[in-house]
Parts: sequence; C-alpha cells; structure tokens
Amino acid sequence: MPDDFQNARSLEPDVSKSLLPQSCQLVIFGASGDLSWRKLLPAVYNLNIDGVLPSHFAVVGFGLPAEGQVCGDPDEYIRRRAKDGIAHFSRQPLDDNHWADFARALFLVPGSFNDTRAYAQLKAKIEAVDQQFGIPGSRVYYLAVPPALIGTCVEHLKNTGLINDPSEQRAFTRVIVEKPIGRDLPSAEEIMHVVAGCFAESQTYRIDHYLGKETVQNLLVLRFANSIFEPLWNQKYIDHVQITVAEEEGLAQYSSKSGEMIATRAGYYEGVGALRDMVQNHMLQVLCLVAMEPPWSLKPDVVRDAKVGVLNCLRRMTPADVEKNVIRAQYIEGDNQGRRVPGYRKEVRESFEVMKKELPSESVHSTTETFVALKLFIDNWRWSGVPFYLRTGKRLPKRASEVAIQFKDVPQVLFNEHPDVPLEPTVLSLRVQPEEGLAMRIASKLPGPKVRIYPVKMEFNYSSSFGGTTPEAYERLMLDVMAGDATLFMRRDGVEAAWRFVMPILEHWEQMHVRDLPEYQCGTWGPVEADRIIVPDGRQWRTL
Ligand code: BG6
Repeated sequence: MPDDFQNARSLEPDVSKSLLPQSCQLVIFGASGDLSWRKLLPAVYNLNIDGVLPSHFAVVGFGLPAEGQVCGDPDEYIRRRAKDGIAHFSRQPLDDNHWADFARALFLVPGSFNDTRAYAQLKAKIEAVDQQFGIPGSRVYYLAVPPALIGTCVEHLKNTGLINDPSEQRAFTRVIVEKPIGRDLPSAEEIMHVVAGCFAESQTYRIDHYLGKETVQNLLVLRFANSIFEPLWNQKYIDHVQITVAEEEGLAQYSSKSGEMIATRAGYYEGVGALRDMVQNHMLQVLCLVAMEPPWSLKPDVVRDAKVGVLNCLRRMTPADVEKNVIRAQYIEGDNQGRRVPGYRKEVRESFEVMKKELPSESVHSTTETFVALKLFIDNWRWSGVPFYLRTGKRLPKRASEVAIQFKDVPQVLFNEHPDVPLEPTVLSLRVQPEEGLAMRIASKLPGPKVRIYPVKMEFNYSSSFGGTTPEAYERLMLDVMAGDATLFMRRDGVEAAWRFVMPILEHWEQMHVRDLPEYQCGTWGPVEADRIIVPDGRQWRTL
C-alpha cells in the first residue's frame, strides 16, 4: 500500500486489536482438488509473499491425488501441484525465494476421507509438523470437499481426537466449510447439524468467497461511510436494482494449443446448476449487503443479524411466481474466448469420459441450468415494491460482475418533458470484477448554446486510485479465520434462510420434469427468454 494511504481510518470492529492471525496449521481437505489448485494454495502463497502469515505456520493437505495423477512422494506431489496452480492463477508471480519458503512448509497426507487409518496418519503428520515448526497445536481445517462428504470428515476428525474444546485457550481448532452447504434445505440442515455436533458455532466458518472480495466489502463502506447515499437508498428514490455475475468460463477448460480438455468441474457442477452454485450463496449474500439495514456496530453478529434480516424478508415464490419470474437455461455450442466450444451436454459427456467415470443416467440428457435470471422482492418498509433483478451464467461474452442501482426518473417536466425521448436515468454501478470500482451515470449539459443533455460517467477505479493488485478474496478470508474473525462468514441461520428462499424454485423445477431447457449460444448474454422478466416492466438488462 503506498505511503499516501497510511492515514486511512481503520474501520475494523472495535474487537480488532486482538484479531491478528495466530500461529496454526492449515489442514486442507481436498488439497489436490480444483479449488485448492486454483484458489487456496495460490492464496496462501500470496499471503506468504506479503509477509502476513502467522510466525509459526504450515499447510498439510489431505486427500487422494486427482484422478489419473501419479502421487510418488506425497509432499513432492502436492508441491508440484501447488507450483502449477501458482504459476497459472497466482495474483503475484512465482518467485524462487518465496517459493522455497512456501514449499518447505507444505505437506500431503494421501488418504480417503472415510478411511479411519488415514486420519491416524493425518494426526501423526500434524503432530510432527507442529514439532518441526513450533506450532502450538492450533489448526484450521479447510473442508474443500463436496457437501456430501462434510459430515464424514468432521466426524472422523472428532473421533480421531483432532478437535480441541472451544474453551481451550492455548490451541484453537476452527473449521472452514465450503459452499454450497447441501443441495437443499433439509440436506443443509443435516450437514450443519452434524458439524455442530463436532464444532461449536464459534469454531465454524461457513465461507462464501464473494464476501471476501474488496468490492463486496466496499458496499458497506460506500453505504455507511458516505452521507449522500443512505437517504436515497430506499423505495422512494430507487427504481430497481440489478445484480449480474457473468462468467466467460464454462464447465471445462481446453488447451489453447491442442484443443484438448485439460480441466473440468463436471464432477461437481452437473446436477447442481447455477441456482445452487451462484444464487443461493454468492448472489444472495451480495444482495444482503446492498439491501440490509444499517447495523448498529461492526461486531460480527450485529452485521450478520442485519443480513439475515434481508433474507427473512424475501418474498417466497409460488409456483406461478417461479414460472413468471425465474428463467433458467443451458448453453449450447458457440464461440467463447475466441474459439468454438461445445454445448453443455456434450461437455458433460466428454468430461465424464476424461474423468473415467460412468455418466449418471440423468446426465445423459442433462437439464442442469448454466444460466438463471430472476426477479425478486424484499417485503419490508425500505424496499417495498422495488424489483431486484438477478442474473448469472456461464459461457457469457465476458467476465463481468456488478451491482447497478437505478434511481427513479425525474418528473416529466423541464428536461424530461417529452415522454418519447426520456432522459437516461441516474445509475450507480458498482463493479465487483474485473476493473473493480464504481461509476455514477448522471445527466449533463453538452457544452454549447443549446440545452442538450448527455449522460456522463463519474468513475472510481481501485487500480488507478490505490495501485497494486487487489488481494484475492480467499487471502483475506483465510487470514480472518486464523485471526478468529467471523464477520465475513455466513451464520447458520443465514444459510438456512437463503435455502428457504430458493426451495420453492427448486421444488417447482423438480415437479416440472422438463426434458429441455431454453438455450443460449456460448458467447451470448443468455437466452432471449430472460427478457420476459424485465422488459414487460419497462426496463432492460444492462449492457456490460
Ligand atoms: C464458485 C462457483 O463458488 O464461484 C463457480 O462454484 C464460479 O462455479 C465461481 O465459477 C466464481 O467465482 P469468481 O470469484 O471467479 O467470480
């Protein structure tokens, strides 16, 4: 951070003085998996470069090597895999000195999550690493595993004596649970019940990495550290809100040279779909920050109470509402990132071949949605009657996520008196990624003798204002867990409330037994059907 920002006001909660990352081991379940490779190991590497890791620290991975990979020496295997992930995805480039320092504290225990003996080996390794690095027995377990395995992992940890009592002062144990938690409300409740039988709520960190993004955190600062927004932030002045999370990536990745499939998330994504993968968690969490009431303090539970307040006010959809207000679709073959890519169904078939797994019968003619658009309402005083339009999809033309607040039109007098040529509305757009920042579109007079009005943009860019690269969400969130700060993590009631909103949609879809979904070509902005939920309201999806 440049010197000019040394005087920035610290807006951390008043408890922050005690919140420094504490020495511990990070134990990653699923260490050879996709999340670990792309995000977790590169994030820890960046924390190492930035010198913010605790003084005594090591990473122990747990799990079997990825399908088809030869393990050999487990520690060497995970180091190779980490190096590859860092080379591809790290925010800061791979550098030999930091790499050596990082790699010497990185280990792997190969083993299956339901094998009791593997946990005994894990325990032995953890204890040896504690000794080697002078770690006082504190651990953070990161469960980067499918939801169905969470219960198995935590119960084994408990039975192997790897969980300390929360009252233990000398050494803490904390668990990070990845989203999606469950595939519906009952399975989420079941998982959270099993986790609660092994870890106290104060030890449990339900991660949603969107909450660690700088731009998402800035939503609170923007709303509550500037006096001009909050008075306008309600149904009197806001016409509608759009939240978009567009991704260029699809299910699989292909080599740019050979065109071969080099990675696929089909094992996770197929049968899950965009509603569970993106809306139930990331998008509803962002919605909460946009719509919540001002919390009376920044203490973790006060902020989380305010967020749950929003989820509890979401209008539940009837089957007729789902038909009218929710659109799902699947991508078909098209152009993406400058090349021709196959449609979703073909990618699923090929992915299972590559993974050498049998394609489940329900996936032969998959109806997993890769795009969702929906209109929802928050039934409280502040937001009464204001529609929130959400859309997310894979294989869209570009990666672009934003929250756009569109203000109401000015009265139809003065500059806006001609209904045929209405003034462009004022829009505040908060760019979550990429080109993080925000812009305000306002009407301005074009210079000259006539009164001609033109929409102009006031811009703020993170990179030009603050320089440097913005830390990845996982970096911040892992540090927070090491420090014991749960503010940016989801509380159990929040996860349940989000599922309660999504359930009527899932149930209705299940009952419909459709054979085919609306389609959109790769590289387009989704199906034409998405217009159905916004155009009749006299509004448009934003062009990003
Ligand atoms: C993950 C989803 O949680 O978020 C992925 O499982 C999605 O499907 C990813 O691609 C998007 O994260 P980001 O940070 O790249 O926007």
